Amino acid sequence: MDKWVKRTVLIVVSLNILQLFVYPQFWSWTSLSWPTGFSGDKASVDVEEPQLKSWPAIPSHRPWTLNKDLQTFSCEAYFGNGYTDVVPLLKAPKKSKRLNNTDDLSGSFQCRYNPTLRTSICEGKHVVMNLDKIEMSKGGEYLEKVIGRGEDAELPQFSTGAFEVMVTQGSQIPPATPLFDNGQVDSLMPQGQVSRHTLRDLLKTVRTVDASTVTCARTVVEPTLVVTRFEYANLFHTSTDWYSAYSTARVVGLKSRPHLIFLDGHCKSPMDDGWEAMYTTVTYAKHFTSPVCFEHLIFAPLGYDVPLFKNIASTLNCMGKPAEELAKKADPNKTSRVREFGEFVAASFEPEGTTPLDAEDADSAKIPEVRVLMVRREDYLAHPRHSGKPQTRLSNELEVLEALRSWAKERSSTYFEDNQSLLNVTVINGVLAHMTLDQQMKAVRGADVLVGAHGAGLTHLVFAKPTAAVLEISSPTYRRPHFQTMSYWQGRDYHIINMDGSYADTIQVRRVMDQILKDISAKKLSS
Ligand SMILES: *[C@@H]1O[C@H](CO)[C@@H](O)[C@H](O)[C@H]1NC(C)=O
Ligand SMILES: *[C@@H]1O[C@H](CO)[C@@H](O)[C@H](O)[C@H]1NC(C)=O
Ligand SMILES: *[C@@H]1O[C@H](CO)[C@@H](O)[C@H](O)[C@H]1NC(C)=O
Ligand SMILES: *[C@@H]1O[C@H](CO)[C@@H](O)[C@H](O)[C@H]1NC(C)=O
Repeated sequence: MDKWVKRTVLIVVSLNILQLFVYPQFWSWTSLSWPTGFSGDKASVDVEEPQLKSWPAIPSHRPWTLNKDLQTFSCEAYFGNGYTDVVPLLKAPKKSKRLNNTDDLSGSFQCRYNPTLRTSICEGKHVVMNLDKIEMSKGGEYLEKVIGRGEDAELPQFSTGAFEVMVTQGSQIPPATPLFDNGQVDSLMPQGQVSRHTLRDLLKTVRTVDASTVTCARTVVEPTLVVTRFEYANLFHTSTDWYSAYSTARVVGLKSRPHLIFLDGHCKSPMDDGWEAMYTTVTYAKHFTSPVCFEHLIFAPLGYDVPLFKNIASTLNCMGKPAEELAKKADPNKTSRVREFGEFVAASFEPEGTTPLDAEDADSAKIPEVRVLMVRREDYLAHPRHSGKPQTRLSNELEVLEALRSWAKERSSTYFEDNQSLLNVTVINGVLAHMTLDQQMKAVRGADVLVGAHGAGLTHLVFAKPTAAVLEISSPTYRRPHFQTMSYWQGRDYHIINMDGSYADTIQVRRVMDQILKDISAKKLSS
């Protein structure tokens, strides 16, 4: 492992030194002006593009500017703003060498390596996607139609030239030349723990193509983000992909929310609604007519390479802090990025022009309400290979729900802390698997406490209000730190009940809920 790190760092550092000689005149991505489409003699079809969605205004957003002096293994680098090593694979020829500035098809390609996350964000200008060189199922089918389909069939297999970058006369690299050698792929995109790293496979097949030989069936002018999902129906894994897409779009500096492409052949999933809420358009790659030309195509790292997933092995200690505090005083051991991410996802589900924090009760005359959302684990069919039965992690789940209900009733009729105000404590039966993602988000955003057994549904805590607390009920077989860590990263109040088996003691649940309620009521009644 150590040898690996050293070798990677060495390669990246040497690539980086090479790159210093050319930086920044060729890589001023944002300063280039883009042609509005390909001209008629290329027999391309100009499709009316929808206007790009603007980024929602969120309280925790801070700029994602490239800071080359950023400390490796700082929280800021870990949470996605540490793509410090810019490595050009193909540079567009200098403006003076280009034949025609108004109809310029000279492509380029670069990767930005993050030494902390050990992965890269790669992007190209004037990139062609050839679907006949990508083997996978079509994707987007109804689950019932594809029961039993293997995961391998749903993941892309690339032949050489699956992605091509256009070159014109004066290009430093001739047509039909691969852009990466294996060493570069190893250094920019290490294999890590993933058994099938589709992005590595993809990069190995990228090559140049003579622009004058390309006939685009479709041209996408606006920036487009490419994502390959693995466990696409599970909220935890989907959130790792959401995090990757969001941080990638920010690192690249996109001014609006891009188009998004699923470079996989998975069937429809309730999670698709989330992608659609977040990005301008969402398309399964195989639904395009090939070849598709992109003026700016960006490949997001695999979800396995982002902090939400890596947290399992991470030793970094990053406490969540409000963005305004960090803006005043930087701290390498604190972060507001996970709050920012949660707010972005939540805001994508809100009507435009509102911020997610508007959700607080407007009616001050009402008795303050404390909403407890019990995140239930239920039987549901997640993917074509699923047996439809989640393992039992909380055998008396219904009993816990009933205990919460009677506890809430008692607490609602008692004066709490002071005798000035009464609280209305309510319990919501969070049968999330039977709700649309939009309904789930509404329930989560309205909650003051999330209670549940360890399971993907608890990932919703990331999207909850900053003041919302979490109670995880944990069984010995699933004692994993995900939700505790995520809460910590957000500076969120977190509690855990460690059961001996899968049976929860309801007396203990009531005791912890009292503790949580005490803190919440103090905040509610003082505001
Ligand atoms: C440059 O573009 C103009 C306008 O599109 C065209 O008339 C001209 O032929 C082009 N020149 C070359 C060298 O391609
Ligand atoms: C950050 O954490 C590291 C490791 O725990 C510690 O050595 C360092 O002093 C901390 N830095 C600050 C500014 O608190
Ligand atoms: C609140 O009211 C109850 C019932 O009237 C009374 O027993 C209790 O002493 C009061 N508590 C405080 C702190 O005033
Ligand atoms: C408590 O909240 C519930 C759910 O919003 C509402 O139906 C109920 O009327 C409230 N009770 C009181 C006493 O305000």
